[in-house]
Amino acid sequence: MGVNSTLVKFHNLSIFLFCALASLSSGQTLREAADGAGVLIGAAVRPSQFGEKQYASILAREFNSVEPEDAMKWRVLRRNRRNYDFRAGDQVVRFARAHRMKIRGHCLVWGRDNPDWLMEGHFTTPQLSRLLHDHISRVMKHYANQVFAWDVVNEALDENGNLRDSIWLNQPGIGFAADATAYIAQVFRWAHKADPHALLFYNEAEGEALNRKSDAIYAVVKDLKKRGVPIDGVGLQMHISSDIDVESVMPAIAANIARLSALGVQVHITELDVSVPVDSRGVARPADLEKQADLYRAVVRACLQNPACTAIQTWGFTDKYSWIRSHSRGTRGAALLFDRDFEPKRSYHALLSELLAGRVPKSFSPLQRSE
Ligand code: XIL
Repeated sequence: MGVNSTLVKFHNLSIFLFCALASLSSGQTLREAADGAGVLIGAAVRPSQFGEKQYASILAREFNSVEPEDAMKWRVLRRNRRNYDFRAGDQVVRFARAHRMKIRGHCLVWGRDNPDWLMEGHFTTPQLSRLLHDHISRVMKHYANQVFAWDVVNEALDENGNLRDSIWLNQPGIGFAADATAYIAQVFRWAHKADPHALLFYNEAEGEALNRKSDAIYAVVKDLKKRGVPIDGVGLQMHISSDIDVESVMPAIAANIARLSALGVQVHITELDVSVPVDSRGVARPADLEKQADLYRAVVRACLQNPACTAIQTWGFTDKYSWIRSHSRGTRGAALLFDRDFEPKRSYHALLSELLAGRVPKSFSPLQRSE
């Protein structure tokens, strides 16, 4: 090992120790720091884990907001065609209320995580349209005054920025396939009618920095605003990898947040995780966990710099329960703030120190519609 890399390691270690000590001595939790900064800090949750003592106590202590990872998706709410099954979603609501946390709802319109009866039911366009309208109305009314913001539409674009083929767009679609974004406009209007107080978000993957996809997201949102569609925000999922170069990517993320906010919408970071390579036992290399912490810090900084970026949410909070291991077929993992034994990682301390340093102008309320 060269002198330089030893020095870099020593430097990184001292930064880590400094941040860890600073956050310990501040005695503050993420939640307290986020309250102070005027931003929401949330986590995606699985109600099946609420009975696990460490899971529940860390969640309530560290976060002021939750989002069901799966419990409000069609697949869970609509196991069969006739009945709505709100049990898992209601558990999330009860937990959040008991701990005075906000709730983001996820998600009303998506081409994935739908039940087989829907995907294989060969419904006609008018039938599908009725099914979707009914779903949006029932679900949003059930959670009115509980869920403050909904991902109304999730991942409508493909990696090239074209509209993604889906049951709602064109297979067979709800009747607007000829006019690109009209089906999105329609469902936002239904959503606004169902719960006029809820903030309505378009949530998307892989469009965080400046690229073809984020250009397309920008164009869609601009078009929706021009059509007078009630859209309040854009969710940037932010499933990122420790391989990306923090120096070059972060200015692009900040610029993307800035151009979206110039359209008059809020931005939420909705599904933040930073995956790292892991061995067959799921163990990551320390150097990758350092890079991971730098990326968490940079994302939070990019968000806090812009008053329109009002929520930061991680996709889970402990590596014990993260979708990344199975999604990457075991090659990546350790993507979150707490390790599998619920110990806070470097990423936790990086995020905390950034929240402690950050301030969002108080004149902006993240919880209310702006009109
Ligand atoms: C994932 C969940 O984490 C998994 O539990 C589930 O099996 C599949 O979906 N983008 C999204 C989320 O918007 O809904 C996805 O969540 C992850 C990618």
